Amino acid sequence: MAKTPENKHKSSTTASQRVAIAIMAAGKGTRLKSKHPKVLHEVGGKPILAHVIAAAKKVVAAQDIFAIIGHEADRVRAAVADCGVQFVLQADQRGTGHALMVAREALSPYDQVIVLSGDAPLITAETIQGLSDFHAAQKATMTLLSAELQDPSGYGRVIRKSAKSPEVRAIVEEKAASAQQKKIREINSGFYAFSVGELYAHIGDLTTQNAHGEYYLTDMAGVFHRARKKVVAMKTPQAGEVLGSNTRAEMVDLDARLRMAKCLQLMNDGVTIFYPATCVIDSDVEVAPDTVIEPFVQLLGKTKVGGDCRIRSYCVIKNTEIADGVMVLPGCVMDDSRIGKGATVGPFSRLRPGSDIGEGAHVGNFVETKKMKLGKGSKANHLTYLGDAEIGEGVNVGAGTITCNYDGVHKHKTVIEDGVFVGSDATLVAPLTIGKGAYVAAGSCITDDVPADSLALGRARQTIKEGWAREKRGAQAAQKPKQG
Ligand code: UD1
Ligand code: CA
Repeated sequence: MAKTPENKHKSSTTASQRVAIAIMAAGKGTRLKSKHPKVLHEVGGKPILAHVIAAAKKVVAAQDIFAIIGHEADRVRAAVADCGVQFVLQADQRGTGHALMVAREALSPYDQVIVLSGDAPLITAETIQGLSDFHAAQKATMTLLSAELQDPSGYGRVIRKSAKSPEVRAIVEEKAASAQQKKIREINSGFYAFSVGELYAHIGDLTTQNAHGEYYLTDMAGVFHRARKKVVAMKTPQAGEVLGSNTRAEMVDLDARLRMAKCLQLMNDGVTIFYPATCVIDSDVEVAPDTVIEPFVQLLGKTKVGGDCRIRSYCVIKNTEIADGVMVLPGCVMDDSRIGKGATVGPFSRLRPGSDIGEGAHVGNFVETKKMKLGKGSKANHLTYLGDAEIGEGVNVGAGTITCNYDGVHKHKTVIEDGVFVGSDATLVAPLTIGKGAYVAAGSCITDDVPADSLALGRARQTIKEGWAREKRGAQAAQKPKQG
């Protein structure tokens, strides 16, 4: 027998059935007033659709996942291409019922289809699996996931046969609902399970006689009811999971929920986060125990932070690997970089892609780095630009040092070997190698390689003109027009 992957959610009743998941993701998202398709808007640091796909992939009962795409299909396909789903094209979007009409060929080899709304990113594999199992246990033709919401406005309402019965007569959309029906707080979540054979035997009964002139998948409840097929609702106690993102306000609310869930998970795992409501931490970020994150910190993308670190306020850190015991002072911005154990960065440091800060190294105030390696214990503490550079261990880079790496066409490399002392305000014109243990005098413009253990001086010699200032002032006073 095939082993069940641990992260997949087990099913008991649907084991012998062929089950597919279809994610409806073809809509435009008119209410967002956006030029981007709704399902590509990001919450919790990734597209809404990617969250739904991630949950779907953990459902073990499902053999295949289809995303039904249409509006800006190429962009949607490209954004989730590496998620391992298959695509069905709904070239014109004529409603959720129409989305399933166009998926007929793709879905016909299966017994059961679980239909998910591509715009409800908080759904979990457990709930999807529960819906599938409930559908099989009830031997229903259609099962819809419902939820009781404090404010049900905007959602379709579930009309049950009777208050206690799981059986459903119809789903009524908000726009078609009577005043009485609008009081119903049990809403249709937009997640369903269908018997595939029955779905396609009756889907032709849908009409477009409604407020939007569309084929509503929700009307299948009434269609089946009239055909004396069993339609049931499974009410989830996890009402928060079904929330959709039709408007900007709803989207921002979902983002806040995902962010807070991530912070709570990290805190459970031993990380201190002060004022978590002000921190933005993407779902794939990892942080090890005993690290402290101060208010207003963003940890994005695939960032990994070790243990015993402190990330002080106002840092924006993306795709960066930070080892144990690192201190990041306020106001740093980092992308695609690495920081070694026990290093100190900031305040106000900018680590651009390819910065590799060695163990115990210091990068300080207003220092910008790019594609550079700073060796163990080396320091660049103030007002410096280090790009395309390889800097050894125990190097001191003085305040205001600049690697001139760009000649207008090409980038050139600066190599600074171990133990070098670069005085303040040095201009290092690459390509250039400064040999081991050498000194560069403050204020130098260095254009040629510096041999090991030597001193390089590249500045004009200072001259003194004794009494010059006094004479100058005297001459100025003589020229001044007399007053009065
Ligand atoms: C839908 C339900 C409503 C339910 C709500 C839950 C219908 C008619 N109404 O309303 O009862 O309470 O979800 O969130 O289904 N889509 C397509 N092709 C289309 C149209 C839509 O793939 O032609 C996709 C959308 O991209 C979206 C999903 O289907 O991901 C739901 O569509 P949406 O327009 O958001 O439906 P709601 O108005 O929210
Ligand atoms: Ca919706």
